[in-house]
Amino acid sequence: MKRRNFIQKAGLSAASLAATPLLANDRVEKKSQKTFSTKNIPIVICTWNCPNATAKAWEVLEADGLALDAVEQGVMMEESDIKNQSVGKGGRPDREGNVTLDACIMDHTGNAGSVVYLQNIEHPVSVARKVMEDTPHVILAGKGAEQFAYEKGFKKVDLLTEKSKNEWIEWKKESKYKPIINIENHDTIGMLAIDKQGRISGACTTSGMAYKMAGRVGDSPIIGSGLFIDDEVGGATATGMGELVLKTVGSFLIVELMRQGYSPQEACEEAIRRIVAKNTNYKDFQIGYLAINKAGEVGCYCLHQGFSYSKYTKEGQVEIKSDSYLNS
Ligand code: GLY
Repeated sequence: MKRRNFIQKAGLSAASLAATPLLANDRVEKKSQKTFSTKNIPIVICTWNCPNATAKAWEVLEADGLALDAVEQGVMMEESDIKNQSVGKGGRPDREGNVTLDACIMDHTGNAGSVVYLQNIEHPVSVARKVMEDTPHVILAGKGAEQFAYEKGFKKVDLLTEKSKNEWIEWKKESKYKPIINIENHDTIGMLAIDKQGRISGACTTSGMAYKMAGRVGDSPIIGSGLFIDDEVGGATATGMGELVLKTVGSFLIVELMRQGYSPQEACEEAIRRIVAKNTNYKDFQIGYLAINKAGEVGCYCLHQGFSYSKYTKEGQVEIKSDSYLNS
């Protein structure tokens, strides 16, 4: 529709249009002047119990480093940990036996980078950061992402460990395609950090659903679903069955609810309620949300019991159990 026709159809006058940008600018102006308490800052939080990841991120934050460096280096710990079979090296493969990784990163300026369906690279989060910093794009996929990683100096790595390979061979005997809730109490790693300067960043990384269809991509590398950051408000990240998060754009929803005045806890609970309202089969899946506002207040909520998060602040490291929608 041509702009003039649209204006006529919408019944907008030239005067009202002229006024709109002024109001919007005014709103931005007010928000940018907002100040936040710094008593809880710096802080890093991470889905699941990942003390090594949060400790690494804390090292960066304590040394007055960037939140962006903290979240990248933090989640890299899990990507390299072959005991964590839902992220990076050692991740469970798809049904064809290929380990395919998804990751994204987002900084306090609203910049973001992502890789999907990436193979043979141990640190997808770092490739996502290169996409963000060295290309005009947000997402690179598959072979293109892998080629880009080699051009940036990343080494080819065999991601399939003996353990994950043997479990996949066992799985193939029945090939049941059903997600297992809280699989080994580990799923996607989503990390959010605020540094000493008050800058917020986040990262999210996963090998996705075990034995997924070849080519399947979940929520984790999708900005707004697996992760969203807005330096005016806060950030959110997700873990669990990505399809449910994708369909409700969960992390963006949580940040927007916080913008409207919800606490991080209230926003996470509302995002879970949206999933319950829209999916009659919600009991078959686990979803966990983790959120933080710019004052360093944290919220966390999940569908089933069993989800927790790690937090590192001046007071040290703690694991905190999440409240859940379902209590059994
Ligand atoms: N949350 C990870 C996935 O669904 O791929």
